Amino acid sequence: MTNKEIVLSGIRPTGNLHLGNYFGAVKNFVKMQETNTCFFFIADYHSLTTHPNPRDLQSNVKQVLVEYLAVGLDPEKATLYLQSDLPETAELYLFLNMNAYMGELERVTTFKEKARQQPNNINAGLLTYPTLMAADIIIHKADKVPVGKDQEQNLEMTRTFARRFNNMYGTEFFPIPTAYNFGEQLVKIPGLDGSGKMGKSEGEGNAIFLNDDPKKLHKKVMRAVTDSGPTEMNQEKPEAIQNLFSLLKIVSKPDVVVYFNDQYNNCNIRYGDLKKQLAEDMITFTEPFREKIAGLSSNDDYLNRVMNIGAEKARESARKTIAEVRQIIGFRKYY
Ligand code: TRP
Repeated sequence: MTNKEIVLSGIRPTGNLHLGNYFGAVKNFVKMQETNTCFFFIADYHSLTTHPNPRDLQSNVKQVLVEYLAVGLDPEKATLYLQSDLPETAELYLFLNMNAYMGELERVTTFKEKARQQPNNINAGLLTYPTLMAADIIIHKADKVPVGKDQEQNLEMTRTFARRFNNMYGTEFFPIPTAYNFGEQLVKIPGLDGSGKMGKSEGEGNAIFLNDDPKKLHKKVMRAVTDSGPTEMNQEKPEAIQNLFSLLKIVSKPDVVVYFNDQYNNCNIRYGDLKKQLAEDMITFTEPFREKIAGLSSNDDYLNRVMNIGAEKARESARKTIAEVRQIIGFRKYY
């Protein structure tokens, strides 16, 4: 056995991957699977907090699986699985809930936000979202958790619950996980609406999805926010224009960026030309992903095999943890 660090992250089965997700997170997952022991799972238990119907749940889970495989997550390198294929997680969640307090759960920002968004469905699952997340993480004794800023408080709760368990039973059984920070490798991807980052909640036209068909992609880029153009040589670019250049830098060749930059500095720029180029290069960049997505989508046998292999590997690790946890707690050992 090696002593590689254990990296784990959960993916909510909502929506398609966009370039922001890709460069902001998933590309790093793909890299990490080369050097770490990685667990990546689709958080389908968590998604029940919004009461999806079975058909939607199934198709969302499949879409996420397909897209993550398409961008390079490799079932031979990482353990890819569905959260609901690992009932050990639910068992650990139950144990952790016994030591999770109303007050601290009610103070979690994501809970308060959700409660505001769905006032008629403030269920116990929503309140205990952080204990389920903690169970996800410590069931594999993960060391590093790559998550965005919005999940830092949840991760802090995981540390609290892990420490509490350790203290209660006088062990150092659970490692205390930390956020995986990509540091300089992290590229911020702006959206097309002139301000802020790319995201699906900012409106349909703001994000470029890996699975957007070329026509749609082209249309979105052509509609991106610009201004009336520079009036002085070498003037600083306003945010909307800077954003387009940032996107160009990601998908286009360096000389293309230089060319349009010069045009801008000489006040000769035609935004239509820039956008046409950007759209073309985005289409080229996303093409291999679209092909893989299409291929995988029609191969349910393969997808099932991937899920089965992942479930096997994940359960092996989870069973070991649960057996020990039961013993530590004082339950009869029958495993
Ligand atoms: N809460 C995470 C999100 O909203 C998803 C998630 C569930 C997760 N369990 C996790 C992330 C465990 C990291 C580790 O994106």
